[in-house]
Amino acid sequence: MNKLNHKQVNMVELIICLTNAEDLISPELANHHQQVAYLAFKIAEQLNLPIKQKRELIMAGLLHDVGALSLNDRLELIENEPPSVQDHAFKGARLIEGFPPFCNAADIIRYHHVSWNNGEGITVRGSQVSLLSHIIHLADRIAVLVNRNHEIIGQITGIQNKILEQKNTTFMPELVDAFISMSVNEYIWLDIAYKPLLYILPSIVSFDIINLDSDEIINLTKIFANIIDFRSPFTANHTAGVAKTAEKLAELAGFSENECKMMLVAGYLHDLGKLAVKNEVLEKPSKLNVEEFNEIRSHTFYTYRLLQAIKEFETINIWASLHHEKINGKGYPFHLTGKDIPLGARIMAVADIFTAITENRPYRKGMTNEQVINVLNSMVNDQSICPFVVAILMDNFDLINEIRKEAQWKSSIEYNYFIEAENKKL
Ligand SMILES: [Fe+2]
Ligand SMILES: [Fe+2]
Ligand SMILES: [Fe+2]
Repeated sequence: MNKLNHKQVNMVELIICLTNAEDLISPELANHHQQVAYLAFKIAEQLNLPIKQKRELIMAGLLHDVGALSLNDRLELIENEPPSVQDHAFKGARLIEGFPPFCNAADIIRYHHVSWNNGEGITVRGSQVSLLSHIIHLADRIAVLVNRNHEIIGQITGIQNKILEQKNTTFMPELVDAFISMSVNEYIWLDIAYKPLLYILPSIVSFDIINLDSDEIINLTKIFANIIDFRSPFTANHTAGVAKTAEKLAELAGFSENECKMMLVAGYLHDLGKLAVKNEVLEKPSKLNVEEFNEIRSHTFYTYRLLQAIKEFETINIWASLHHEKINGKGYPFHLTGKDIPLGARIMAVADIFTAITENRPYRKGMTNEQVINVLNSMVNDQSICPFVVAILMDNFDLINEIRKEAQWKSSIEYNYFIEAENKKL
C-alpha cells in the first residue's frame, strides 16, 4: 500500500488538480485560471516585481474565481463586470483564507474586481487594495477579451485598444503601460491560447516546488471539500460528514494513523467529480431523468481521472473514487466485484451511504436510527456493501453518528460564514 508520503506532495500540483476540476464546471471558461495566472505573472515580470510577489500572483491567479461556484456565476463574469461581481471575490477569499499558505492569495482575491477609478481604487472602505489585486483585475479582463473561437494574433490590436480605453478609469495606468509594452510579443498570446498551458505553467513561471506535510494536505483538501459542497445548500455539509465517518471507520477497522489521515483526505475528495455536475441537476427536487441520472453517476469517474494526476494519491484515489462500486458488481463506473474493491473503498462506500441517509437536507429530514439500520442491513443482504464494515458501524453506531453530526455541524457554521459574503456589497 502506498504511504501518504507528504514530502512529495506538491502544492502547485494539487492546486492545478483543483483548477482542472473547476474547468469541468464550465468548459466555456476552461483554462481561464491558468490564463490569468500567466498574464499576471507576465505583467509582474514587465514591472520587475520581486519573485515572492510573482509567486503570490500565480497562486492568486489560479484560485481567483474559486468563489464563483455555479456556471451562471461564471458566465456572468465573462461578459462585463456587473455590480454583483464583488460577491464571488469575497466568497473566494473566505473559502481559502483559513489555509496559511493561501493567506496572501486570499487578500489579493478579495479585491480583484476593484476598479482603479482614477486612483480612488487604492483603497476600498478604508482597506488597502494591493497592487497585486489590480494586476489580477487587469489580467482577468484581458483574458476575457480573448475570443476563443478565433485566431489570436489578429485580436491583439483590438484588445490593446479596449484596455487603453479604460486606462486610469478601470485600470491602474502603470499596469496598462506594462501590458502594452509586453503585448507586442506574439508568444505571450500564443501561450494564452495554448491548451496545454496548464501543464507547462509551473515550468514557465519557474515555480518552486512547495511540499506539504500531511496536516497541510488535510487542510488543503478540506478547502476542496468546501468548494465541492458549498455550491449548493443541498450538499453544504455532506463531504465533512463522509470524511469524518470514513476516518473513524478506518481507525476501528485497524488502519494505521497514517492510513486514517489518508482516509480523511480521500473522504474530502470523494465527490470532487461532482464539480462536473450542473447545479440544476444537483438540486432538482423531482425525479431525475435518464440524462440527469447519467450525469450524476459520472462523478466518480471524474474524481478518479482528476486525482490520477497526483502520483502520491494513488491509494487515496482508489479509496475515494470506488465509493459507488458494489460487492455484487452492480456499482459504477468500473463494475468491480468483491475482492477487487479494497477495504478502504468499502469503508468510503458505507460512510457515504450512512451520511447521505442520516443527514438533514433542505427538503427532507435524515432517517431515524431504525430506518438507517434497516437500509444498511438490506444493502448487506443484496451484497451491495461490505458486511464487515457495516458490522463495525453497527457496533459503534452512536459514537460514529455523533462524530458525523459534529463534523456536519461545524461545516454548517463554515457554510453560513461563506454565504454571508453574498450580502456584503462594496
Ligand atoms: Fe476571472
Ligand atoms: Fe458520490
Ligand atoms: Fe458522497
